[in-house]
Amino acid sequence: MASWPYLNSSTMLSKPKHPNPSFCLHDFPNPQHSSSSFSFTVSPIAAVNSATRRCRQTNRRSSLILASTEKPREPLKIMISGAPASGKGTQCQLITSKYDLVHIAAGDLLRAEVEVGSANGKKAKEYMEKGQLVPDEIVVMMVKDRLSQPDSAEKGWLLDGYPRSSSQATALQAFGFHPDLFILLEVPQEILVDRVVGRRLDPVTGRIYHLTYSPPETEEIAARLTQRFDDTEERVKLRLQTHNQNVESVLSMYEDITVKVDGSLPKEVVFAKIDSALSDLIHQKKTATLGTTAT
Ligand code: AP5
Repeated sequence: MASWPYLNSSTMLSKPKHPNPSFCLHDFPNPQHSSSSFSFTVSPIAAVNSATRRCRQTNRRSSLILASTEKPREPLKIMISGAPASGKGTQCQLITSKYDLVHIAAGDLLRAEVEVGSANGKKAKEYMEKGQLVPDEIVVMMVKDRLSQPDSAEKGWLLDGYPRSSSQATALQAFGFHPDLFILLEVPQEILVDRVVGRRLDPVTGRIYHLTYSPPETEEIAARLTQRFDDTEERVKLRLQTHNQNVESVLSMYEDITVKVDGSLPKEVVFAKIDSALSDLIHQKKTATLGTTAT
């Protein structure tokens, strides 16, 4: 059954610094990373449960979660960014399946608030319908509260769609949350509208589909797919405008830990590149830990 807000388809106080410079990917080049599509640059609570459901369901399905011996002692702290429909949610499902990180998606947190009809949700919806950023006074504490929960600290986190402005990045830094890696998915604008309009969601499993690029496996799934209220051509153009106005200011705050990935490639190829960067990062974290232990 389709649940609102979806429409049934048949109807820093200072610039963030890398917490440990020795983790910089730039210092550990990987031959697979030499393609132009992949380059290193220099160097709320019931609502939250609903918002994180799709991620947990993906985790349950996974048989590929890293063994505990393969994990770094310090959990991974990852940010993923990109234009609307660049594939952030899709990649987060693949990443959490393997790395068992807590997926925190600002958009999902907001939609959960909208769904329960809270005061914040009502206010947020006004902005989301216009493709604008929801004010910091709503978003910042929502994300901070989720990051502060014990599972995020224990397993590590994958922050999706936050920060989207320098003020959000600065606030996160001030709360003491420092990412290890900032993944930027780059996709040409003309592809994005097509992806948004064709996107469908499975309210049962939380999986993201596309009518053309990632169609549902069965007719039963197809019949229950839903569409997001902001997934129209008109609204995605507004969302893109907002993204373009803000992206540079966020990028400039994470340039020393940014990895850029060509998000127009097939999703499996995109994931392979992200996977490689994450493996490198884990290796670096382990090496750094061993170095510390040895001295
Ligand atoms: P949010 O929910 O974050 O939306 P978004 O940024 O516009 O991103 P999307 O969720 O639309 O796309 P995605 O990149 O996850 O792509 P997906 O994997 O689904 O935010 C919504 C609104 O909330 C914002 O407009 C704003 O109002 C508010 N908001 C959110 N965060 C905020 C913040 N920090 N501050 C203030 N306000 C905030 O993929 C899209 C489609 O493409 C799918 O159909 C998928 O199957 C397909 N696809 C994915 N990858 C591929 C591939 N490689 N090849 C072919 N098809 C692919």
